[in-house]
Formats: sequence, structure tokens, C-alpha cells
Amino acid sequence: MEERLQKILSRAGIASRRAAERVLAEGRITVNGHTVTEVGTKADVERDDVRVDGVRVRPPQAPVYLMLNKPKGVVTTRHDPEGRPTVMGLVPAVAGLFPVGRLDVTTEGLLLLTNDGAFAERVSHPRYEVPRVYLAKVRNVPEPETIERLRRGVTVDGERLAADHVRLVESDKNAWVEVTLHEGKHHEVRRLLEAVGHPVSKLRRVSIGALSVRGLEPGEFRALTPQEVQALLKPGSHRRAPERSRVAARPRRPAHARRPGHSKGPGQAPRRAAGHGERPGPSGRSGRSDQSGRSDRSDRSDQSGRSDRSGPRKRTHRGRPQR
Ligand code: URA
Repeated sequence: MEERLQKILSRAGIASRRAAERVLAEGRITVNGHTVTEVGTKADVERDDVRVDGVRVRPPQAPVYLMLNKPKGVVTTRHDPEGRPTVMGLVPAVAGLFPVGRLDVTTEGLLLLTNDGAFAERVSHPRYEVPRVYLAKVRNVPEPETIERLRRGVTVDGERLAADHVRLVESDKNAWVEVTLHEGKHHEVRRLLEAVGHPVSKLRRVSIGALSVRGLEPGEFRALTPQEVQALLKPGSHRRAPERSRVAARPRRPAHARRPGHSKGPGQAPRRAAGHGERPGPSGRSGRSDQSGRSDRSDRSDQSGRSDRSGPRKRTHRGRPQR
């Protein structure tokens, strides 16, 4: 079937459609040996020899959508030049799989991984307002005015940062604050809270849209159900009802503030990656044939030579990745 080159690259998990337009304009795509630069050019990736920077674009694999409870100490990248453990070592080796967005190495919680570039683009783009909810343990207890300030927004290093919703969920000597954002600016939660005088000592992402990390222990993953994938793609499905009270005085600790794993949420059973019967060693390498991707979006141009296993498998080893 003939499709526009941007769509071919996006479906193959190589680049978002916008990024593909740039790749096209830069003359990096050939079809049957001829360089093409014209937006709108079509090809049939099953039949035609489509290449980016000389690397053959393969027809897309069946789409895979995983959610992982990323533990602390694991880097959100396909390959870490420093050799630290990466999230790829916790999930099955599916060709073209990459993490959607990023969590800091010291942040734990819900991370999506997919080989579907269009899905990743859709879920991460601020325009679609998919809410991400974080729980942050902060130094001291923020006053209601401080919570209000976070919602109004603060300027940090010349950048305007603001939370969609903020709620104090537990307060004692220190506090847990629930922060909802719909975009993924660098270290956004930490920078926001630090800027108002409450540095973060622990950070966990507890949900993305309707997906909750509940039911997954750190290091466990599961496949999304088709309904969960559809819900993330549905426009306007993420609007949140207005909060009645944004700041609770001394609320009880909500279920998702407790360590996840006490109750199993809906969806498929959690698993741990089997790899090749090995866990990531201290070097962080899983020992697979290819850890060649980079962490940014363009790294999807890695047409990896990974063994293309079809889906998640049960892990054979217990134990946590290195922290
Ligand atoms: N905001 C942060 O500061 N860190 C994360 O990992 C995610 C959001």
C-alpha cells in the first residue's frame, strides 16, 4: 500500500511526522535509489526500497504498548553511554521499542514504551493535554498560598512553569504533594517545587491519563489493553472535572500515595522482563545484541538489529535492577 513518506517513517517508529518532514527536506531519504525531498511523496514500504541515511526502512512491526513501573536508578533511554541500567533492560526486546518521554533517573513510576511513533507523539504532545500526575515528597509543608502560586505559575531560569492542579495529600514534618501536568518540561516538578522553597526528596509518577501505576511493583511492566490505548488517543477524554477543594488541610493518605502494588488494577497481569534469562548487570547492559538507540526522539532512526520477539515474556530472575 502506498503511503506518504512521513507516515511510513512515523509508523516505522523512526521519526514523528514533523521530524520526518525535516529529514525529507534535508535530502536524507531515498526511494529505490533516488533522493526525494518533496513533501507528499508516496512509496510502498513493502515493495519499494525506502532508506533513511542509507538504512533500509522496514515495514512496521505489530504495535506494542507497554507500561512500566520504572524504579529509581534506572535511566530512561535506549542506551546509556555511561553504562547505567536502562529501562530497556526491564522490558522485552521488541524491535523499535522506545520510552515515551522521560523520567529522571531518581524518579520512579509510570512510563510508557511503544514502537508506535504516532502514538508516542500523540500522548506526549502538550496540545492533547494528557494529564500526568506526580506525587512528590517535599521538604516542609507548603502553605495554601504556595500551592496557589504553583498553580498560577513561577518563572524558573527564564522559563514559565505552572501546574494544572496541585494538592497537598499528606502533611506531617514533610509533605506529599500531588502535582498534575500535561507537558513534560525538563525536571518540571522538581524545578517548580524547588522554586517555591520545597525541594523534592522523592518523586513518583502515579498516572498518565486514566492509566495508573497501581498494581505494578517497581521493575514490573504489562501490556496496555486495546481499550487503554484507545482511551489515551481519544481527544478531549482527559479533561478533568473542576476540583472542589484544591488544598486539603490534613487529608488521609490516598491509595496511590501508598507504595504501588497493594492492589492490582485492571488490565493484564504484571510481568518482569525475561531478557535472555539474565538481569541487567552492574554495567547496566542486558547483554542483548543491540542497545544502540539514543535517548532523544531522533534515535528512532535506529533500525535496530534486535532479535524481534513478539511480545512480553515472563522474567526468569528475581531481584531489582541496580539502584
Ligand atoms: N518532573 C521532574 O522533575 N522529574 C521527572 O522525572 C518528571 C517530571
